[in-house]
Amino acid sequence: MVDLEGVDEPQEQRGAEWKQAVHTLPADRMTSIRLTSLSHAAGCGCKLGSEDLGKVLRHLPAVVDVNVLVDAATRDDAAVYQLSADRALVATVDFFTPIVDDPVAWGAITAANALSDVYAMGGRPLFALNLVGWPRGKVPFEVLGEVFRGAADVTARAGCLMLGGHSIDDPEPKFGLCVIGEVHPDRMFTNAAARPGDLLVLTKPLGTGILTTALKRDMVMESALDEAVRSMTALNDGAARAALAAGVRCATDITGFGLLGHLGNIIAASGVGARIDSARLPLLDGALELAAAGAVPGGTRRNLEAARVEWADDITEPERLLCVDAQTSGGLLLAVRPQRLALLLDALRVEGTAARAVIGEILPDAGVLRVVRGTAEQ
Ligand code: CO
Ligand code: CO
Repeated sequence: MVDLEGVDEPQEQRGAEWKQAVHTLPADRMTSIRLTSLSHAAGCGCKLGSEDLGKVLRHLPAVVDVNVLVDAATRDDAAVYQLSADRALVATVDFFTPIVDDPVAWGAITAANALSDVYAMGGRPLFALNLVGWPRGKVPFEVLGEVFRGAADVTARAGCLMLGGHSIDDPEPKFGLCVIGEVHPDRMFTNAAARPGDLLVLTKPLGTGILTTALKRDMVMESALDEAVRSMTALNDGAARAALAAGVRCATDITGFGLLGHLGNIIAASGVGARIDSARLPLLDGALELAAAGAVPGGTRRNLEAARVEWADDITEPERLLCVDAQTSGGLLLAVRPQRLALLLDALRVEGTAARAVIGEILPDAGVLRVVRGTAEQ
């Protein structure tokens, strides 16, 4: 059960939008089928690894079209196609296997996650189509109805219309959305716009991969996931509005490749480096302890192996795992000019984002990714 009053979290961190994100689960609606037991990996943790993807993506033909503003080359969050001087389409697709047992929450998390890529481009979602894989005859269609209900709650909150979709019979349940949105071409966020000296701000805590893996392995009860579920069902719309208001040009959302993986895409696309202060990372309650106890998603392990990072000696293994933990519906990572930081933090406070942590900065050294503890160890 989600009990907002029982959550030990500073009052100032609860904005209106944050409260809206709460999904309560009446006990009589809980299904006897454990959806996560049908899932081989949790949420964005089922993503193919960054290295594997690199081997495959090179087979795609290079795109040469003046209307294409963003394609796969910068590993951005969504494709952007310009229609006119002041309008561009944003298109993205995301789907995955059950990450929690409650079907309403799974639908809500999936929708918030799919919409997030539009927000990560500074866009506004217009409409969505769903993608469904369902074990016909094994899991009742009523459960799929609950998944839709959770997703529809979230798309309605986003002002995004659900216009159709496609479903197949599949031994493993899968659900997701293709989202079409729009963005002003001059105001969109890309991975390629970070500059040395920019400060890095993260808008949700890390650890959803570790917590949901702990659930799947029966190391915690679903009730221990309240904070994580609230975070994963919260839209990144407020974070995007705040970033637009503060004149941010570089953003991404943290999903399957973890904080350092998505930051790695930013530094590669921008030709810069970055330093993260591990002491400043916002973490979900219990995430460090569960990482130490071995609740580590396969995707997170792959991320750690793939990460080319200079770790300070005192960064522990569980802390390293959190830095690369495969997030589902994570927050926005924003690169902001130092003189605009106060403006951004104020706007994030007004929007009531789950976190607004200044976690590091962009460095001039191309390709360098450094994790330290405290600024004294630079
Ligand atoms: Co993304
Ligand atoms: Co995505």
